[in-house]
Amino acid sequence: MLRVLHFSDTHVGLQVRHMGWKKWFSKRAIGAINLARGRAKYFDDVEEKLTALIAFKEANDIDLVIHTGDYTALGLESELKLAKEMVTPLMTPPQSYVTVPGNHDIYVHEGNSHYRFSEQFCSVLQNDLPEYCRGGHWPLVRLVGDDVAVVALNSSRPNLPWRSNGIIPEEQLTALEALLQDPRVKERYIFVITHYAARLQNGEPDTKLHGLINADQLLEKCKVIRSGALLCGHVHKTYQVDLEGMACELYCAGSATMQRHEGFWVYEVKEKKLEAKKVVWDETASCYSYALTRSNYRVPLN
Ligand SMILES: [Fe+2]
Ligand SMILES: [Fe+2]
Repeated sequence: MLRVLHFSDTHVGLQVRHMGWKKWFSKRAIGAINLARGRAKYFDDVEEKLTALIAFKEANDIDLVIHTGDYTALGLESELKLAKEMVTPLMTPPQSYVTVPGNHDIYVHEGNSHYRFSEQFCSVLQNDLPEYCRGGHWPLVRLVGDDVAVVALNSSRPNLPWRSNGIIPEEQLTALEALLQDPRVKERYIFVITHYAARLQNGEPDTKLHGLINADQLLEKCKVIRSGALLCGHVHKTYQVDLEGMACELYCAGSATMQRHEGFWVYEVKEKKLEAKKVVWDETASCYSYALTRSNYRVPLN
């Protein structure tokens, strides 16, 4: 049995190392300041949450860790460095950590934004089947043990400020089609991972300005997968959804660190079957724990 931890959208911003200012202000003043800080305020506890996530990983016999992007807020080199530093304890050994960038990791056009991500995360970007690689590191394939393969596709790109949608370049989809026929991959349980969600929790595509532009093409290519799952982030909600006419299901990790939305998944893969367990943040105990409600446990039939 292989146990996989899938988390996402940690959004480490530079402000997290400067939270000391809070103690100088009243609750009311902090409220007013936070109003001006927009979404960043929901990620103030990211360091505490990531420390807890590392403790969860160590206590729960995790074999493989997957992060589906949005490590940072703005993709600045300093943010990427800080985010990498915070998740480094999850990267031992490096071949047991698979990741893709999110749109926030390559947010700005200046310089080579993809290079900034690759530079920081190069130690975990090794590709077991580099012959399928079509530009940058993608698709990146990791063969895990004898039974599991992870195929990572990059769907993120620098965007204009008013949109946050993504697209998987055509050449990556063509390579995906070929590698899903490769006997070294197709006999395994296959995780196809990318930052953007091909479907929302209600089974519908995301909006044009926020979603994966070629979601339908990705799903079409994945129809040949007999046992596997699509994993994503980007939508800050931890959910699972069945995909019409497909053996695969889709799991969105949501955000592991966003206040009041914290969550991620643990998958147990055994004999090409997956059992998914949702993990939530326990505010009282300041730790992550398996969600206890029965509806959070699912055993797909594939
Ligand atoms: Fe995000
Ligand atoms: Fe995103």
